[in-house]
Amino acid sequence: MIEVVSYDETQFAEVDALWRAVFPEDPPHSHAPVAIPQKLAVQRDLFLVAVEGGRVLGTILAGYDGHRGWLYKLAVHPNARRCGIGTRLVRAAEKKLATRGCTKLNLQVRAGNDEAARFWALMGYAQEPRISMGRSLA
Ligand SMILES: CC(C)(COP(=O)(O)OP(=O)(O)OC[C@H]1O[C@@H](n2cnc3c(N)ncnc32)[C@H](O)[C@@H]1OP(=O)(O)O)[C@@H](O)C(=O)NCCC(=O)NCCS
Repeated sequence: MIEVVSYDETQFAEVDALWRAVFPEDPPHSHAPVAIPQKLAVQRDLFLVAVEGGRVLGTILAGYDGHRGWLYKLAVHPNARRCGIGTRLVRAAEKKLATRGCTKLNLQVRAGNDEAARFWALMGYAQEPRISMGRSLA
């Protein structure tokens, strides 16, 4: 039975391996050894994993800053795709964010990741006319 639960530290190695495989272009500050401890310090219950028989099959990382909710790190193990796990992770994160009072969600898709964009469109997310900008404070 597949369950969506909050992450716990015993799952680090599996999540690290999943993210390395699924997000090879992520910069070092997004890698698990940096991103996971940071997330566990802030709204740790919004870091969700899909598990079956103790094995991690997928992740999603959410946050609510009091104005908008954000979704990151949606990843499903390549052998477990198209079984509804991605959908379950998104809906579970949405539910937790709504419980906190969040009324609008945002996310970013890397240019060229058309499959993910199709998935998000099916989930009800619309492409919005924004330029995504960022700056490192590290
Ligand atoms: C995107 C991703 C999370 C989807 O996970 P998933 O568990 O396969 O998704 P679901 O099974 O819930 O898919 C729901 C529906 O989305 C659509 N969909 C999912 N993956 C798709 C793909 N690769 N191409 C086109 N449509 C897709 C399908 O309509 C699917 O329903 P169906 O299987 O009945 O046709 C997964 O492909 C993944 O981990 N991709 C790599 C990481 C990534 O790009 N993450 C998003 C970063 S923004």
